[in-house]
Amino acid sequence: MEITPKNNLADLFLPLPIYSSVHIADAICKHEEEYKVFIGIEKKYAEQLKKLSLDDSDVDLQKNTGDRRRFGEGSYEEWYEKNRTPFILVHKQTDKLAALVWFGPKSLGKKSLKFGEEEKDKIQNDWHTAVWRSYPTFRGKGLMKAFTSFVMEIYKEHYPDIGFWLGTDSNNEAMIMLGLKLGFKIDNENSDLSNNWQVMVKK
Ligand SMILES: CC(C)(COP(=O)(O)OP(=O)(O)OC[C@H]1O[C@@H](n2cnc3c(N)ncnc32)[C@H](O)[C@@H]1OP(=O)(O)O)[C@@H](O)C(=O)NCCC(=O)NCCS
Repeated sequence: MEITPKNNLADLFLPLPIYSSVHIADAICKHEEEYKVFIGIEKKYAEQLKKLSLDDSDVDLQKNTGDRRRFGEGSYEEWYEKNRTPFILVHKQTDKLAALVWFGPKSLGKKSLKFGEEEKDKIQNDWHTAVWRSYPTFRGKGLMKAFTSFVMEIYKEHYPDIGFWLGTDSNNEAMIMLGLKLGFKIDNENSDLSNNWQVMVKK
């Protein structure tokens, strides 16, 4: 996918106020489908996110993420208060949410609410979690590497001193492969492999 940045992002203060968003790039995939990239999630896309998170037919999402509880049954507003910065990819023709990536300060290796250990993390944390999903119609289409690496660079410009980490089920091959392709390294010291919790880091 080819991404063309749109605005000068230097003046943005992250995270943006809730439900505000900035159209930061346009993208075109190898099948000539067009997309928009936004920082922040407008209300109409937060509503789509809620529905997608409740979608039981999306077996991979339900198996590998806590999004049903986080966005489906839980409150987007509450989640946003944890200093998370979301980026979304929207399919231009249908205005559908195609993919979501978010970052935010979180202690290295810490398991998420899927595992019942949620906490408010300190803003000063040097480690920021990196999380992503693509939604069924758009999954496996080769959109994620370019989208994720583009938004990671933007985030890193705003937080130059942080390291990224991700945690996933150790059987989640798609997540681990994508992590490796983005330059993440396996970090077994902070993993909990007996409970299938694989951590990867990128400085
Ligand atoms: C993880 C996820 C975001 C990957 O998105 P995707 O749409 O499959 O990504 P892409 O099609 O852009 O593929 C990205 C890379 O990963 C590789 N990949 C994707 N799925 C794979 C799989 N099942 N096995 C091995 N490699 C895979 C691709 O080869 C690709 O590399 P390339 O661009 O060099 O060819 C997506 O599978 C997803 O949303 N899953 C459900 C939610 C989830 O598990 N999120 C992570 C939870 S922690």
